[in-house]
Amino acid sequence: MTTDIREKTREAWATRIGLILAMAGNAIGLGNFLRFPVKAAQNGGGAFMIPYFIAFLVLGIPVMWVEWAIGRHGGQFGYGTSVGAFGQLTRSRRAAMAANFIGVLGIVVPLAFTIYYTYIESWTLAFSFFSVTGHYSAVQSFEGMSGFLSGFQGKETNLYFSGLSTALIFFFITLLLNTYILSKGIAKGIERLAKIAMPMLLIFALILVVRILTLGTPDLDKPENNVMNGFAFLWNPDFSYITRAGTWLAAAGQIFFTLSIGTGSILTYASYLRKKDDVTLTGLTTSMTNEFAEVILGGSIAIPAAVAFFGLAQTMVIAKGGAFDLGFVAMPVIFQRMPFGALFGMLWFLLLFFAGVTSSVALCSPAMAFLQDQIGLSRKKSALAVGTVMLLGGLPVVFFLKHGFLDEMDFWAGTFGLVIFALIEVVLFVWIFGIEKAWDEIHTGSEIRIPSIFKFIIKYITPIYLIGLLIFWAYQDGLPILLIRNRSAADIPYLWAARLMILGLTALVILLAIFAYKKGKLNLMTSPEEIADE
Ligand code: PHE
Repeated sequence: MTTDIREKTREAWATRIGLILAMAGNAIGLGNFLRFPVKAAQNGGGAFMIPYFIAFLVLGIPVMWVEWAIGRHGGQFGYGTSVGAFGQLTRSRRAAMAANFIGVLGIVVPLAFTIYYTYIESWTLAFSFFSVTGHYSAVQSFEGMSGFLSGFQGKETNLYFSGLSTALIFFFITLLLNTYILSKGIAKGIERLAKIAMPMLLIFALILVVRILTLGTPDLDKPENNVMNGFAFLWNPDFSYITRAGTWLAAAGQIFFTLSIGTGSILTYASYLRKKDDVTLTGLTTSMTNEFAEVILGGSIAIPAAVAFFGLAQTMVIAKGGAFDLGFVAMPVIFQRMPFGALFGMLWFLLLFFAGVTSSVALCSPAMAFLQDQIGLSRKKSALAVGTVMLLGGLPVVFFLKHGFLDEMDFWAGTFGLVIFALIEVVLFVWIFGIEKAWDEIHTGSEIRIPSIFKFIIKYITPIYLIGLLIFWAYQDGLPILLIRNRSAADIPYLWAARLMILGLTALVILLAIFAYKKGKLNLMTSPEEIADE
Protein backbone atom coordinates (compact mmCIF):
# COMPACT_ATOMS: atom_id res chain seq x y z
CA MET A 1 0.00 0.00 0.00
CA THR A 2 2.66 2.46 0.97
CA THR A 3 4.97 1.48 -1.84
CA ASP A 4 2.91 3.48 -4.32
CA ILE A 5 4.14 6.61 -2.78
CA ARG A 6 7.75 5.68 -2.60
CA GLU A 7 7.88 4.56 -6.17
CA LYS A 8 5.95 7.37 -7.68
CA THR A 9 7.51 10.56 -6.45
CA ARG A 10 5.18 13.46 -6.89
CA GLU A 11 6.01 16.42 -9.03
CA ALA A 12 7.74 19.41 -7.51
CA TRP A 13 8.37 23.04 -8.30
CA ALA A 14 11.51 23.42 -10.35
CA THR A 15 12.77 26.71 -8.93
CA ARG A 16 12.12 28.94 -5.98
CA ILE A 17 11.34 31.94 -8.14
CA GLY A 18 9.01 29.78 -10.18
CA LEU A 19 7.16 28.75 -7.05
CA ILE A 20 6.84 32.35 -5.91
CA LEU A 21 5.58 33.48 -9.30
CA ALA A 22 3.11 30.61 -9.48
CA MET A 23 1.80 31.34 -5.99
CA ALA A 24 1.58 35.04 -6.81
CA GLY A 25 -0.16 34.12 -10.06
CA ASN A 26 -2.59 32.03 -8.10
CA ALA A 27 -3.47 34.97 -5.88
CA ILE A 28 -3.28 37.84 -8.37
CA GLY A 29 -6.35 37.57 -10.52
CA LEU A 30 -9.46 39.32 -11.71
CA GLY A 31 -10.15 40.04 -8.07
CA ASN A 32 -7.24 42.46 -7.86
CA PHE A 33 -8.15 44.62 -10.82
CA LEU A 34 -11.94 44.38 -10.93
CA ARG A 35 -13.35 43.21 -7.64
CA PHE A 36 -11.13 45.22 -5.30
CA PRO A 37 -11.69 48.70 -6.75
CA VAL A 38 -15.42 48.11 -6.87
CA LYS A 39 -15.60 46.83 -3.28
CA ALA A 40 -13.50 49.72 -2.03
CA ALA A 41 -15.59 52.26 -3.90
CA GLN A 42 -18.81 50.70 -2.64
CA ASN A 43 -17.74 50.59 0.99
CA GLY A 44 -16.46 53.96 1.99
CA GLY A 45 -13.18 54.19 0.07
CA GLY A 46 -10.34 54.81 2.50
CA ALA A 47 -12.55 53.67 5.36
CA PHE A 48 -12.82 50.26 3.69
CA MET A 49 -9.07 49.90 4.01
CA ILE A 50 -9.24 49.70 7.79
CA PRO A 51 -11.29 46.49 8.01
CA TYR A 52 -9.43 45.36 4.91
CA PHE A 53 -6.01 45.56 6.55
CA ILE A 54 -7.28 44.12 9.80
CA ALA A 55 -8.66 41.17 7.85
CA PHE A 56 -5.35 40.88 6.02
CA LEU A 57 -3.46 40.68 9.32
CA VAL A 58 -5.69 38.42 11.36
CA LEU A 59 -7.27 36.31 8.62
CA GLY A 60 -5.25 36.62 5.45
CA ILE A 61 -1.71 36.02 6.64
CA PRO A 62 -2.56 33.38 9.28
CA VAL A 63 -4.78 31.34 6.97
CA MET A 64 -2.13 31.68 4.27
CA TRP A 65 0.52 30.14 6.54
CA VAL A 66 -1.89 27.47 7.74
CA GLU A 67 -2.84 26.48 4.21
CA TRP A 68 0.79 26.38 3.07
CA ALA A 69 1.77 24.27 6.05
CA ILE A 70 -1.12 21.80 5.71
CA GLY A 71 -0.36 21.46 2.03
CA ARG A 72 3.35 20.85 2.45
CA HIS A 73 2.67 18.41 5.27
CA GLY A 74 0.12 16.47 3.21
CA GLY A 75 2.42 16.44 0.21
CA GLN A 76 5.03 14.51 2.21
CA PHE A 77 2.54 11.65 2.40
CA GLY A 78 1.61 11.83 -1.24
CA TYR A 79 -1.53 13.87 -0.74
CA GLY A 80 -2.17 16.92 -2.87
CA THR A 81 -5.55 18.02 -1.57
CA SER A 82 -7.41 18.35 1.69
CA VAL A 83 -8.79 14.86 1.01
CA GLY A 84 -5.78 13.14 2.49
CA ALA A 85 -3.95 16.16 3.86
CA PHE A 86 -6.70 16.78 6.43
CA GLY A 87 -6.59 13.16 7.53
CA GLN A 88 -2.89 13.46 8.26
CA LEU A 89 -3.65 16.11 10.85
CA THR A 90 -5.66 13.70 12.98
CA ARG A 91 -4.58 10.88 15.26
CA SER A 92 -6.88 7.98 14.53
CA ARG A 93 -8.02 6.30 11.39
CA ARG A 94 -11.61 7.12 12.09
CA ALA A 95 -10.88 10.80 12.66
CA ALA A 96 -8.78 10.79 9.52
CA MET A 97 -11.67 9.42 7.55
CA ALA A 98 -14.01 12.10 8.87
CA ALA A 99 -11.48 14.83 8.18
CA ASN A 100 -10.90 13.58 4.66
CA PHE A 101 -14.61 13.48 4.07
CA ILE A 102 -14.88 17.14 5.06
CA GLY A 103 -11.84 17.73 2.89
CA VAL A 104 -13.98 17.01 -0.16
CA LEU A 105 -14.83 20.70 0.08
CA GLY A 106 -11.24 21.48 -0.87
CA ILE A 107 -11.85 19.96 -4.29
CA VAL A 108 -15.47 20.93 -4.88
CA VAL A 109 -15.18 24.59 -3.91
CA PRO A 110 -12.32 25.38 -6.32
CA LEU A 111 -13.90 23.29 -9.05
CA ALA A 112 -17.21 25.13 -8.81
CA PHE A 113 -15.23 28.36 -8.62
CA THR A 114 -13.19 27.70 -11.72
CA ILE A 115 -16.25 26.87 -13.78
CA TYR A 116 -17.56 30.42 -13.69
CA TYR A 117 -14.20 32.12 -13.18
CA THR A 118 -12.86 30.68 -16.41
CA TYR A 119 -15.92 31.93 -18.24
CA ILE A 120 -15.28 35.50 -17.06
CA GLU A 121 -11.62 35.00 -17.96
CA SER A 122 -12.72 34.15 -21.50
CA TRP A 123 -14.51 37.50 -21.77
CA THR A 124 -11.20 39.24 -21.17
CA LEU A 125 -9.67 37.31 -24.05
CA ALA A 126 -12.65 38.17 -26.24
CA PHE A 127 -12.51 41.84 -25.34
CA SER A 128 -8.79 42.14 -26.00
CA PHE A 129 -9.52 40.66 -29.39
CA PHE A 130 -12.44 43.08 -29.94
CA SER A 131 -10.20 45.90 -28.91
CA VAL A 132 -7.58 45.16 -31.54
CA THR A 133 -10.03 44.32 -34.29
CA GLY A 134 -12.06 47.44 -33.60
CA HIS A 135 -15.20 45.42 -32.92
CA TYR A 136 -16.59 47.97 -30.56
CA SER A 137 -14.90 51.04 -31.97
CA ALA A 138 -18.23 52.50 -33.03
CA VAL A 139 -19.54 52.30 -29.49
CA GLN A 140 -18.70 55.54 -27.73
CA SER A 141 -21.13 55.80 -24.85
CA PHE A 142 -21.51 53.93 -21.61
CA GLU A 143 -25.05 52.89 -22.53
CA GLY A 144 -23.89 51.68 -25.91
CA MET A 145 -21.08 49.61 -24.45
CA SER A 146 -23.42 48.24 -21.86
CA GLY A 147 -25.54 46.97 -24.74
CA PHE A 148 -22.47 45.54 -26.42
CA LEU A 149 -21.59 43.57 -23.28
CA SER A 150 -25.18 42.40 -22.81
CA GLY A 151 -25.30 41.24 -26.39
CA PHE A 152 -22.03 39.38 -25.99
CA GLN A 153 -23.28 37.77 -22.78
CA GLY A 154 -26.49 36.73 -24.51
CA LYS A 155 -28.67 38.83 -22.23
CA GLU A 156 -30.19 40.49 -25.26
CA THR A 157 -30.07 40.33 -29.04
CA ASN A 158 -28.89 43.55 -30.61
CA LEU A 159 -27.01 44.93 -33.57
CA TYR A 160 -23.71 43.69 -32.14
CA PHE A 161 -24.55 40.13 -31.26
CA SER A 162 -27.33 37.67 -31.82
CA GLY A 163 -26.81 34.66 -29.65
CA LEU A 164 -23.91 33.28 -27.74
CA SER A 165 -21.71 31.86 -30.45
CA THR A 166 -18.90 34.40 -29.98
CA ALA A 167 -18.89 33.97 -26.23
CA LEU A 168 -18.86 30.21 -26.63
CA ILE A 169 -15.94 30.28 -29.02
CA PHE A 170 -13.82 32.32 -26.62
CA PHE A 171 -14.91 30.18 -23.71
CA PHE A 172 -13.85 27.12 -25.61
CA ILE A 173 -10.44 28.58 -26.50
CA THR A 174 -9.89 29.54 -22.88
CA LEU A 175 -10.81 26.05 -21.71
CA LEU A 176 -8.46 24.48 -24.21
CA LEU A 177 -5.63 26.68 -23.06
CA ASN A 178 -6.27 25.88 -19.41
CA THR A 179 -6.48 22.18 -20.13
CA TYR A 180 -3.28 22.30 -22.13
CA ILE A 181 -1.36 24.02 -19.34
CA LEU A 182 -2.72 21.57 -16.77
CA SER A 183 -1.73 18.64 -18.95
CA LYS A 184 1.87 19.86 -18.86
CA GLY A 185 2.03 19.57 -15.11
CA ILE A 186 3.43 21.66 -12.30
CA ALA A 187 6.93 22.62 -13.39
CA LYS A 188 6.47 22.52 -17.15
CA GLY A 189 2.91 23.82 -17.19
CA ILE A 190 1.95 26.05 -14.30
CA GLU A 191 5.42 27.23 -13.35
CA ARG A 192 6.39 28.00 -16.90
CA LEU A 193 3.14 29.87 -17.46
CA ALA A 194 3.77 31.96 -14.35
CA LYS A 195 7.28 32.80 -15.47
CA ILE A 196 5.89 34.29 -18.66
CA ALA A 197 2.55 35.67 -17.53
CA MET A 198 3.58 37.38 -14.29
CA PRO A 199 6.28 39.64 -15.72
CA MET A 200 4.00 40.52 -18.62
CA LEU A 201 1.22 41.30 -16.20
CA LEU A 202 3.47 43.63 -14.25
CA ILE A 203 4.63 45.42 -17.38
CA PHE A 204 1.10 45.84 -18.72
CA ALA A 205 -0.13 47.08 -15.36
CA LEU A 206 2.71 49.59 -15.05
CA ILE A 207 2.07 50.93 -18.55
CA LEU A 208 -1.60 51.34 -17.74
CA VAL A 209 -0.94 52.99 -14.39
CA VAL A 210 1.41 55.51 -16.02
CA ARG A 211 -1.15 56.16 -18.74
CA ILE A 212 -3.89 56.77 -16.17
CA LEU A 213 -1.66 58.95 -13.98
CA THR A 214 -0.86 61.17 -16.93
CA LEU A 215 -4.47 61.58 -18.01
CA GLY A 216 -4.87 64.79 -16.03
CA THR A 217 -8.16 66.38 -16.91
CA PRO A 218 -9.41 64.81 -20.12
CA ASP A 219 -12.33 67.22 -20.60
CA LEU A 220 -11.27 70.79 -19.88
CA ASP A 221 -14.88 71.91 -19.69
CA LYS A 222 -15.30 69.68 -16.67
CA PRO A 223 -12.21 70.37 -14.58
CA GLU A 224 -13.53 68.42 -11.60
CA ASN A 225 -13.34 65.23 -13.65
CA ASN A 226 -9.69 64.45 -13.20
CA VAL A 227 -7.43 61.66 -12.08
CA MET A 228 -6.61 63.23 -8.74
CA ASN A 229 -10.26 63.39 -7.85
CA GLY A 230 -10.41 59.75 -8.85
CA PHE A 231 -7.77 58.86 -6.30
CA ALA A 232 -9.47 61.12 -3.78
CA PHE A 233 -12.74 59.30 -4.36
CA LEU A 234 -11.10 55.92 -3.86
CA TRP A 235 -8.99 56.82 -0.85
CA ASN A 236 -10.78 59.56 1.11
CA PRO A 237 -12.33 57.71 4.00
CA ASP A 238 -16.04 57.93 4.61
CA PHE A 239 -16.02 56.80 8.20
CA SER A 240 -19.75 56.28 8.36
CA TYR A 241 -19.06 52.93 6.70
CA ILE A 242 -16.84 51.71 9.51
CA THR A 243 -19.76 50.93 11.78
CA ARG A 244 -21.61 48.89 9.19
CA ALA A 245 -21.32 45.13 9.43
CA GLY A 246 -21.55 44.95 5.65
CA THR A 247 -18.26 46.81 5.26
CA TRP A 248 -16.46 44.32 7.49
CA LEU A 249 -17.96 41.38 5.67
CA ALA A 250 -17.03 42.82 2.31
CA ALA A 251 -13.47 43.51 3.46
CA ALA A 252 -12.97 40.00 4.81
CA GLY A 253 -14.58 38.49 1.72
CA GLN A 254 -12.23 40.47 -0.49
CA ILE A 255 -9.19 39.32 1.49
CA PHE A 256 -10.23 35.71 1.02
CA PHE A 257 -11.01 36.08 -2.62
CA THR A 258 -7.91 38.00 -3.55
CA LEU A 259 -5.40 35.91 -1.59
CA SER A 260 -6.97 32.69 -2.92
CA ILE A 261 -7.15 31.35 0.61
CA GLY A 262 -9.85 28.94 1.71
CA THR A 263 -10.35 27.15 -1.59
CA GLY A 264 -7.65 24.53 -1.30
CA SER A 265 -5.73 25.80 -4.30
CA ILE A 266 -2.89 27.18 -2.18
CA LEU A 267 -2.88 23.88 -0.30
CA THR A 268 -2.38 21.97 -3.51
CA TYR A 269 0.38 24.26 -4.72
CA ALA A 270 2.12 23.89 -1.37
CA SER A 271 1.86 20.11 -1.56
CA TYR A 272 4.48 20.24 -4.29
CA LEU A 273 7.01 21.74 -1.89
CA ARG A 274 9.76 19.70 -0.34
CA LYS A 275 9.69 18.97 3.36
CA LYS A 276 12.25 21.59 4.26
CA ASP A 277 11.13 24.30 1.88
CA ASP A 278 10.32 27.53 3.64
CA VAL A 279 6.66 28.47 3.97
CA THR A 280 6.75 31.46 6.30
CA LEU A 281 8.78 33.94 4.30
CA THR A 282 7.57 32.67 0.95
CA GLY A 283 3.93 32.74 2.04
CA LEU A 284 4.39 36.25 3.31
CA THR A 285 6.16 37.34 0.13
CA THR A 286 3.42 36.09 -2.14
CA SER A 287 0.76 37.70 0.07
CA MET A 288 2.59 41.01 -0.05
CA THR A 289 3.04 40.74 -3.79
CA ASN A 290 -0.69 40.22 -4.12
CA GLU A 291 -1.41 43.26 -1.96
CA PHE A 292 0.91 45.39 -4.07
CA ALA A 293 -0.87 44.24 -7.21
CA GLU A 294 -4.23 44.86 -5.60
CA VAL A 295 -3.93 48.09 -3.67
CA ILE A 296 -1.29 49.88 -5.71
CA LEU A 297 -1.87 48.60 -9.23
CA GLY A 298 -5.53 47.57 -9.00
CA GLY A 299 -6.39 50.77 -7.16
CA SER A 300 -4.68 53.01 -9.71
CA ILE A 301 -6.35 51.99 -12.92
CA ALA A 302 -10.08 51.56 -13.29
CA ILE A 303 -11.60 53.87 -10.68
CA PRO A 304 -9.32 56.89 -11.22
CA ALA A 305 -9.84 56.54 -14.97
CA ALA A 306 -13.60 56.31 -14.55
CA VAL A 307 -13.71 59.49 -12.46
CA ALA A 308 -11.54 61.33 -14.97
CA PHE A 309 -13.80 60.42 -17.87
CA PHE A 310 -17.25 60.04 -16.35
CA GLY A 311 -17.09 62.17 -13.22
CA LEU A 312 -17.78 61.28 -9.66
CA ALA A 313 -21.52 60.82 -9.77
CA GLN A 314 -21.51 58.40 -12.64
CA THR A 315 -18.51 56.50 -11.28
CA MET A 316 -20.50 55.84 -8.14
CA VAL A 317 -23.29 54.44 -10.25
CA ILE A 318 -20.82 52.32 -12.20
CA ALA A 319 -19.25 50.99 -9.00
CA LYS A 320 -22.70 50.11 -7.68
CA GLY A 321 -23.32 48.25 -10.92
CA GLY A 322 -20.38 46.00 -10.11
CA ALA A 323 -17.08 44.77 -11.44
CA PHE A 324 -18.33 43.94 -14.93
CA ASP A 325 -19.73 47.40 -15.53
CA LEU A 326 -16.42 48.85 -14.49
CA GLY A 327 -14.14 46.49 -16.36
CA PHE A 328 -16.08 45.61 -19.48
CA VAL A 329 -18.22 48.71 -20.04
CA ALA A 330 -16.61 51.78 -18.53
CA MET A 331 -13.02 50.83 -19.39
CA PRO A 332 -13.55 50.12 -23.11
CA VAL A 333 -15.43 53.41 -23.47
CA ILE A 334 -12.58 55.21 -21.75
CA PHE A 335 -9.98 53.67 -24.03
CA GLN A 336 -12.00 54.71 -27.06
CA ARG A 337 -11.64 58.28 -25.95
CA MET A 338 -7.85 58.30 -25.68
CA PRO A 339 -5.18 58.22 -28.37
CA PHE A 340 -4.02 54.69 -29.16
CA GLY A 341 -7.08 53.48 -27.32
CA ALA A 342 -7.15 50.16 -29.17
CA LEU A 343 -3.68 49.41 -27.88
CA PHE A 344 -4.44 50.37 -24.29
CA GLY A 345 -7.71 48.48 -24.44
CA MET A 346 -5.88 45.40 -25.58
CA LEU A 347 -3.35 45.79 -22.78
CA TRP A 348 -6.08 46.16 -20.20
CA PHE A 349 -7.89 43.02 -21.27
CA LEU A 350 -4.71 41.03 -21.74
CA LEU A 351 -3.64 42.09 -18.27
CA LEU A 352 -6.90 40.68 -16.98
CA PHE A 353 -6.48 37.56 -19.05
CA PHE A 354 -3.00 36.83 -17.73
CA ALA A 355 -4.19 37.53 -14.21
CA GLY A 356 -7.14 35.22 -14.82
CA VAL A 357 -5.40 32.27 -16.39
CA THR A 358 -2.75 31.96 -13.66
CA SER A 359 -5.63 31.83 -11.18
CA SER A 360 -7.92 29.45 -13.06
CA VAL A 361 -5.23 26.79 -13.43
CA ALA A 362 -4.70 27.12 -9.68
CA LEU A 363 -8.38 26.54 -9.07
CA CYS A 364 -8.23 23.41 -11.21
CA SER A 365 -5.15 22.07 -9.48
CA PRO A 366 -6.84 20.36 -6.49
CA ALA A 367 -9.00 18.29 -8.83
CA MET A 368 -5.93 17.57 -10.96
CA ALA A 369 -3.85 16.45 -7.99
CA PHE A 370 -6.63 14.27 -6.65
CA LEU A 371 -7.23 12.51 -9.94
CA GLN A 372 -3.54 11.81 -10.36
CA ASP A 373 -2.52 10.92 -6.81
CA GLN A 374 -5.61 9.18 -5.51
CA ILE A 375 -7.42 7.91 -8.57
CA GLY A 376 -4.30 7.05 -10.49
CA LEU A 377 -5.16 8.80 -13.75
CA SER A 378 -2.33 10.07 -15.90
CA ARG A 379 -1.76 13.80 -16.03
CA LYS A 380 -3.17 14.07 -19.53
CA LYS A 381 -6.30 12.14 -18.66
CA SER A 382 -6.76 14.17 -15.50
CA ALA A 383 -6.50 17.38 -17.48
CA LEU A 384 -9.00 16.07 -19.98
CA ALA A 385 -11.40 15.11 -17.20
CA VAL A 386 -11.10 18.50 -15.50
CA GLY A 387 -11.50 20.28 -18.84
CA THR A 388 -14.64 18.28 -19.56
CA VAL A 389 -16.16 19.11 -16.18
CA MET A 390 -15.40 22.78 -16.79
CA LEU A 391 -17.04 22.63 -20.19
CA LEU A 392 -20.14 20.77 -19.07
CA GLY A 393 -20.47 22.80 -15.91
CA GLY A 394 -19.69 25.97 -17.81
CA LEU A 395 -22.46 25.65 -20.37
CA PRO A 396 -25.30 26.42 -17.95
CA VAL A 397 -23.23 29.34 -16.65
CA VAL A 398 -22.99 30.66 -20.21
CA PHE A 399 -26.61 30.07 -21.13
CA PHE A 400 -28.27 31.09 -17.88
CA LEU A 401 -26.12 34.08 -17.01
CA LYS A 402 -29.09 36.40 -17.27
CA HIS A 403 -30.93 34.36 -14.68
CA GLY A 404 -28.22 34.82 -12.09
CA PHE A 405 -26.62 31.39 -12.45
CA LEU A 406 -23.10 32.79 -12.28
CA ASP A 407 -23.83 34.98 -9.27
CA GLU A 408 -25.31 32.04 -7.43
CA MET A 409 -22.18 29.98 -8.05
CA ASP A 410 -20.06 32.91 -6.97
CA PHE A 411 -21.96 33.18 -3.76
CA TRP A 412 -21.60 29.53 -2.75
CA ALA A 413 -18.10 28.90 -4.04
CA GLY A 414 -16.49 32.33 -4.11
CA THR A 415 -17.93 33.87 -0.97
CA PHE A 416 -19.37 31.40 1.49
CA GLY A 417 -17.31 28.32 0.62
CA LEU A 418 -14.00 30.07 1.22
CA VAL A 419 -14.81 31.20 4.72
CA ILE A 420 -16.20 27.83 5.78
CA PHE A 421 -13.24 25.95 4.35
CA ALA A 422 -10.76 28.33 5.96
CA LEU A 423 -12.44 27.88 9.33
CA ILE A 424 -12.18 24.10 8.99
CA GLU A 425 -8.51 24.38 8.06
CA VAL A 426 -7.67 26.55 11.02
CA VAL A 427 -9.62 24.46 13.52
CA LEU A 428 -8.11 21.22 12.25
CA PHE A 429 -4.58 22.53 12.23
CA VAL A 430 -4.59 24.48 15.44
CA TRP A 431 -7.05 22.57 17.57
CA ILE A 432 -6.89 18.99 16.33
CA PHE A 433 -3.31 18.75 15.14
CA GLY A 434 -2.42 21.01 18.05
CA ILE A 435 -0.97 24.50 18.17
CA GLU A 436 2.50 23.42 19.31
CA LYS A 437 2.88 20.90 16.51
CA ALA A 438 1.30 23.35 14.12
CA TRP A 439 3.75 26.05 15.12
CA ASP A 440 6.67 23.66 14.63
CA GLU A 441 5.29 22.50 11.31
CA ILE A 442 4.97 26.06 10.05
CA HIS A 443 8.56 26.76 11.14
CA THR A 444 10.09 23.66 9.58
CA GLY A 445 12.73 24.90 7.17
CA SER A 446 11.60 28.42 7.92
CA GLU A 447 13.68 31.40 6.96
CA ILE A 448 12.06 33.72 9.46
CA ARG A 449 10.61 33.30 12.92
CA ILE A 450 7.03 34.44 13.06
CA PRO A 451 6.43 36.84 15.99
CA SER A 452 4.81 34.78 18.73
CA ILE A 453 1.82 37.12 18.88
CA PHE A 454 0.71 35.28 15.76
CA LYS A 455 0.53 32.05 17.71
CA PHE A 456 -2.15 33.66 19.80
CA ILE A 457 -3.81 35.19 16.75
CA ILE A 458 -3.93 31.91 14.85
CA LYS A 459 -5.19 29.98 17.83
CA TYR A 460 -7.90 32.34 19.04
CA ILE A 461 -8.43 35.47 17.01
CA THR A 462 -8.56 33.92 13.53
CA PRO A 463 -11.16 31.25 14.33
CA ILE A 464 -13.25 33.59 16.45
CA TYR A 465 -13.13 36.24 13.76
CA LEU A 466 -14.20 33.67 11.17
CA ILE A 467 -17.07 32.42 13.31
CA GLY A 468 -18.09 35.99 14.01
CA LEU A 469 -18.14 36.73 10.30
CA LEU A 470 -20.29 33.70 9.60
CA ILE A 471 -22.78 34.67 12.29
CA PHE A 472 -22.90 38.27 11.12
CA TRP A 473 -23.32 37.12 7.60
CA ALA A 474 -26.08 34.63 8.45
CA TYR A 475 -27.85 37.40 10.29
CA GLN A 476 -27.43 39.98 7.59
CA ASP A 477 -28.05 38.21 4.33
CA GLY A 478 -27.77 34.50 4.91
CA LEU A 479 -31.42 33.66 5.20
CA PRO A 480 -32.75 35.79 2.37
CA ILE A 481 -30.12 34.30 0.08
CA LEU A 482 -30.66 30.78 1.31
CA LEU A 483 -34.39 30.99 0.85
CA ILE A 484 -34.01 32.92 -2.40
CA ARG A 485 -36.08 35.87 -1.27
CA ASN A 486 -36.55 38.98 -3.40
CA ARG A 487 -35.81 37.21 -6.66
CA SER A 488 -37.99 37.14 -9.72
CA ALA A 489 -39.97 33.94 -10.10
CA ALA A 490 -38.39 33.34 -13.50
CA ASP A 491 -34.91 33.10 -11.98
CA ILE A 492 -35.66 30.76 -9.11
CA PRO A 493 -35.39 27.46 -11.01
CA TYR A 494 -31.97 28.51 -12.32
CA LEU A 495 -30.68 29.36 -8.89
CA TRP A 496 -31.73 25.94 -7.69
CA ALA A 497 -30.11 24.41 -10.72
CA ALA A 498 -26.84 26.13 -9.80
CA ARG A 499 -27.05 24.70 -6.30
CA LEU A 500 -27.90 21.26 -7.63
CA MET A 501 -24.88 21.42 -9.87
CA ILE A 502 -22.61 22.15 -6.92
CA LEU A 503 -24.26 19.32 -4.99
CA GLY A 504 -23.78 17.04 -7.97
CA LEU A 505 -20.08 17.90 -8.09
CA THR A 506 -19.88 17.19 -4.37
CA ALA A 507 -21.48 13.79 -4.83
CA LEU A 508 -19.08 12.99 -7.63
CA VAL A 509 -16.02 13.85 -5.55
CA ILE A 510 -17.36 11.88 -2.58
CA LEU A 511 -17.78 8.83 -4.80
CA LEU A 512 -14.25 9.23 -6.10
CA ALA A 513 -12.93 9.55 -2.55
CA ILE A 514 -14.70 6.34 -1.54
CA PHE A 515 -13.17 4.66 -4.56
CA ALA A 516 -9.73 5.91 -3.52
CA TYR A 517 -10.26 4.57 0.00
CA LYS A 518 -11.22 1.18 -1.37
CA LYS A 519 -8.11 1.16 -3.51
CA GLY A 520 -5.98 1.94 -0.48
CA LYS A 521 -4.86 5.33 -1.75
CA LEU A 522 -6.23 7.33 1.11
CA ASN A 523 -5.78 5.41 4.32
CA LEU A 524 -2.15 5.95 5.09
CA MET A 525 -1.42 7.15 8.54
CA THR A 526 2.27 6.40 8.45
CA SER A 527 4.82 9.14 8.53
CA PRO A 528 7.12 9.72 5.57
CA GLU A 529 10.05 8.51 7.68
CA GLU A 530 8.32 5.19 8.19
CA ILE A 531 7.65 4.94 4.51
CA ALA A 532 11.30 5.58 3.78
CA ASP A 533 12.39 3.02 6.38
CA GLU A 534 10.33 0.18 5.03
N1 PHE B 1 -7.34 35.22 -6.09
C1 PHE B 1 -7.96 35.14 -7.36
C2 PHE B 1 -8.34 36.55 -7.79
O1 PHE B 1 -8.06 37.49 -7.13
C3 PHE B 1 -9.16 34.24 -7.37
C4 PHE B 1 -8.90 32.91 -6.79
C5 PHE B 1 -9.51 32.53 -5.61
C6 PHE B 1 -8.02 32.02 -7.38
C7 PHE B 1 -9.26 31.31 -5.03
C8 PHE B 1 -7.74 30.80 -6.82
C9 PHE B 1 -8.35 30.44 -5.63
O2 PHE B 1 -8.93 36.72 -8.80
